Amino acid sequence: MTEEEIEQVESLKGEIHALRGIKKTLRRNFQDMVGLLTTTISQTNNFLGGHIKRVAVLSKSFAEYMRYDKDTIYRIYYGALLHDIGMVGYPENLISSPFAELTEAELLLYKRHTLIGEKMISSAYDLRQTAQIIRSHHEEFGGDGFPDGLAGSEIPLGARITRLANDYDNFIYKNKIKASEAVDRIKERSGYIYDPKLATYFIKFIRTNVDKQDNTSKSSGIPLSELTTGMYMAEDINLDNGMLLIPKGVILDDTMIDKIHSFESLLDMKRIVSIVG
Ligand SMILES: [Fe+2]
Repeated sequence: MTEEEIEQVESLKGEIHALRGIKKTLRRNFQDMVGLLTTTISQTNNFLGGHIKRVAVLSKSFAEYMRYDKDTIYRIYYGALLHDIGMVGYPENLISSPFAELTEAELLLYKRHTLIGEKMISSAYDLRQTAQIIRSHHEEFGGDGFPDGLAGSEIPLGARITRLANDYDNFIYKNKIKASEAVDRIKERSGYIYDPKLATYFIKFIRTNVDKQDNTSKSSGIPLSELTTGMYMAEDINLDNGMLLIPKGVILDDTMIDKIHSFESLLDMKRIVSIVG
């Protein structure tokens, strides 16, 4: 290599390094903005705040279980976290009532949240894949979903996963059925609402925690200092101003434990949290 070529290689290396730095900063800014957004959602609607956080954590853990690459997991997490952003400002009963209890007019408005959410995100950021997850998380594998009636692999992977996590969460927190029954409902609908391959893995993944979810009455309180990953939260953790920090129903990971400790002085509880298992 000539001296000139060596210089060019070095300069390219410098540019690549700088671009990586820019990508990191952009991601950081995006994460901070989404953090602010979810905090605001939790303050205005506790149910929606809990739902989006649980669905995001569940989708991410399932994506890790499926051993997808880091970028795919990242996109699935943020798509799932923002999947219902189009419902911000909707009347409370529209957000927390089971689908079957809505009137025709309410259903029409409900269905629009996928399009509103997609618009909100695409106008703020160039996040095509995240916007696609938001738009398509109510599509059905057999083609009967909304808004586009997509079928099978036409539905983005992140949207198929978010649909599974979203429905599982709604079965438990909206329809108030046991986790073991929620698993049965997913099984029954596999193939026409859910991607059958994904549903099979999802059920396997969920079954490892079903006992914990169905036995929250047997929860016990432990000091914050004893929190470890894999514990199942039996109750919400709120800040003393009422803001939801960690919703019940999530399995703790390192990031959440760090978050709880960093907010320790603002928690509304006496340094004790309720966990199962
Ligand atoms: Fe939704």
